[in-house]
Amino acid sequence: MTADLSGNLLRPAALHGRVSDFSTGISAVNDTTAPAVQSQQGALAGELIKFDNVRKVFPARGTATEVSALHDVSLSVRAGSVMGVIGRSGAGKSTLIRLVNGLDKPTGGRVLFDGVDVGGLTGRALRQTQRQIGMIFQHFNLLSSRTAFDNVALPLEIAGADTATIAKRVNALLDLVGLADKRDRYPSELSGGQKQRVGIARALATEPKALLSDEATSALDPETTRSILDLLKTVNRELRLTILLITHEMSVVRAIADEVVVLEGGSVVEHSDVYDIFTQPRHAVTHSFFANDAGRQLPEDLKARLQPYAAPGGQTVVRIVFRTASADEAVLSKLTRVLSIDINIISATVDTLAGKPFGWIIASIASSSTSQAIAFFERNGVSTEVLGHVA
Ligand SMILES: Nc1ncnc2c1ncn2[C@@H]1O[C@H](COP(=O)(O)OP(=O)(O)OP(=O)(O)O)[C@@H](O)[C@H]1O
Ligand SMILES: [Mg+2]
Repeated sequence: MTADLSGNLLRPAALHGRVSDFSTGISAVNDTTAPAVQSQQGALAGELIKFDNVRKVFPARGTATEVSALHDVSLSVRAGSVMGVIGRSGAGKSTLIRLVNGLDKPTGGRVLFDGVDVGGLTGRALRQTQRQIGMIFQHFNLLSSRTAFDNVALPLEIAGADTATIAKRVNALLDLVGLADKRDRYPSELSGGQKQRVGIARALATEPKALLSDEATSALDPETTRSILDLLKTVNRELRLTILLITHEMSVVRAIADEVVVLEGGSVVEHSDVYDIFTQPRHAVTHSFFANDAGRQLPEDLKARLQPYAAPGGQTVVRIVFRTASADEAVLSKLTRVLSIDINIISATVDTLAGKPFGWIIASIASSSTSQAIAFFERNGVSTEVLGHVA
């Protein structure tokens, strides 16, 4: 990372410190000559974290029965990318992330970090790999008896850095996260967003290659969440930091992730890029994460009238999804003009995601013309879903 940071990089406003000031040579503390932490032959180029048929079973204890928390998870996280992991409570998200930095060991399969089997590491080799992996948490996990400065300094103290190096690096990090003026404040004197910024600075202290985030914005209000996600996105881009981010909020995934994994009952049920997850969710669990997304839902009064079967002379309610190329084409007006089929728009959303346009329309069409209309949409690269029928 040192080499990456020495250049004259562009700096978005969210980064308060100069990125070129960010590296203070702490990597010298990391003994990168230790064989256990060097990239192994066979690691696929560009792949930093790899789950290879990973299983995790927590054994029974007392009256508590055995828990199979993860089964057969295979997954790769590209270096420099942001992978969002979404899932309901108990899906296995925290378990998955704890295997990456060796806080837990897999029961079966392997978790590779930069080609190294983390589950097989112990002692010094494990600590050296852990130094390459920062972690941030929902409740920040700061030490209340230490100031912001001393919290960020902690991993460097543990790594054996000298006082001058620690001072230079911690000040640069606090500057980076916009907290230079709070260095002598205790956690109880900081807001939630400021505490998380300290958490991020601490996680970056040992110049990690990856950052693991376990619900890091779940305790924050929407505006603070946005600013923390902006900061994470900036360090992802500027420092080429790989981020594995756990959340139960689709809005967080949307703001930051390149790829999304949906975990349910310990298994990966869906994995695609963020655009596809939002425009073409496939699994029922993924759909359920959009349940509060107003633009996707039917108005309540219409929902109450919806029937599973078409009635003579009735209307069919469809969701029409426009993706990429089709999003800005006048497909709807063509339908009316060419086929003389009328369409009543009930609600419509047009947006961009990952730089690509998309939109969906909930509309009703005379049931007698629906199959003709759907065939027309398909010919024009527009997908549709029948939601039900009204009399
Ligand atoms: N140390 C443990 N011992 C026994 N069971 C555990 C342990 N840690 C997690 N579990 C169980 O494993 C399953 C997955 O837990 P996990 O914490 O990974 O879920 P999660 O997706 O992070 O949920 P949440 O969104 O609530 O944080 C749960 O059934 C949980 O009770
Ligand atoms: Mg969890």
